[in-house]
Amino acid sequence: TFTPRVFSGIKPSGGLTLGNYLGAIKRFVGMQGEMETIYCVVDLHAITVWQDPAELANATREVAAGYLAAGLDPTQSILFNQSQVAGHAELGWVFNCVARVGWMNRMTQFKDKAGTNAEKVSLGLYAYPSLMAADILLYHATHVPVGEDQKQHVELTRDIAAKFNHDFGTAFFPITEPVIDGPATRVMNLRDGTRKMSKSGESDMERINMTDDADTIAKKFKKAKTDPAALPDTLDGLAGRPEARNLVDIYAALDDSTPEAVIAAYQGAGWGRFKPALADLAVAKLAPISQEMSRLMNDPAEIDRILAQGAARARQIAEPILKQTYDIVGF
Ligand code: ADP
Ligand code: NA
Repeated sequence: TFTPRVFSGIKPSGGLTLGNYLGAIKRFVGMQGEMETIYCVVDLHAITVWQDPAELANATREVAAGYLAAGLDPTQSILFNQSQVAGHAELGWVFNCVARVGWMNRMTQFKDKAGTNAEKVSLGLYAYPSLMAADILLYHATHVPVGEDQKQHVELTRDIAAKFNHDFGTAFFPITEPVIDGPATRVMNLRDGTRKMSKSGESDMERINMTDDADTIAKKFKKAKTDPAALPDTLDGLAGRPEARNLVDIYAALDDSTPEAVIAAYQGAGWGRFKPALADLAVAKLAPISQEMSRLMNDPAEIDRILAQGAARARQIAEPILKQTYDIVGF
């Protein structure tokens, strides 16, 4: 049996979105104190697509600042960036030799990201889910809080652990559980309700950034695409109305409430009432975090110090697990 342990991460590849906050960071904070928690800034994953070096360094600190500002405590959680713990890349290579090409070919996120250009993307983008398995299993993590877009990758992590265990006749790696819960595991784009809100989306109007100011947040929600109908009396009335459902889910997640309770409070309300209420709530929740983020970003040396301390603690867990893996493999 394995000690309950949480691992998750965010790519430093552009500004943090409300999707990252509700689908990941806020839930990371919720798990802190319940079990051992390890949260990473996954810079090795970021370079699967081109990153300007200075922007990468800045984005790495920004994700770390987002973690800290939202309430992750570096004395309770281990906070670090992936490139500083060599075991991620080392175990990633072992897993490249465990995972099958056919498994990678079934990854829908790779197909989405590579599009029609699959011959021209980096080999790293293709192997990304194998490195993600290494991130998780390097700590024998038992639980991985993620958004729905990462579900298939966590399933692949389970397949890699099971195949390694089977091939080497061991029970060395845990079969990790994805934790995908709450109303905001898939926050949708505000302009196109069929796509998730993402850092790498085309237009800034389609996402709320964690660092947007109050006027920008109000403007983006005001312009968010919706149907014209008012909010219904029950949640069932939102079936087939994905844009409306998305805004209700965002409200519920920000308010630590449920979509049912939001509908009960706003039944019959038009968008002229609901959207400003949602914007006010988002500003109330995000403004203190964004203020703290900018304070932290003015002291990059302090962020770097916290990340370096976290990396030292991460190595203490990772190194013995990597050493045992090497022994099992025959190195
Ligand atoms: P992005 O997709 O914005 O580049 P990452 O790939 O770094 O973000 O994802 C970091 C975490 O944030 C993952 O757990 C992912 O599932 C979660 N996440 C990203 N976008 C969303 C979203 N729109 N809704 C819910 N969770 C999300
Ligand atoms: Na993602």
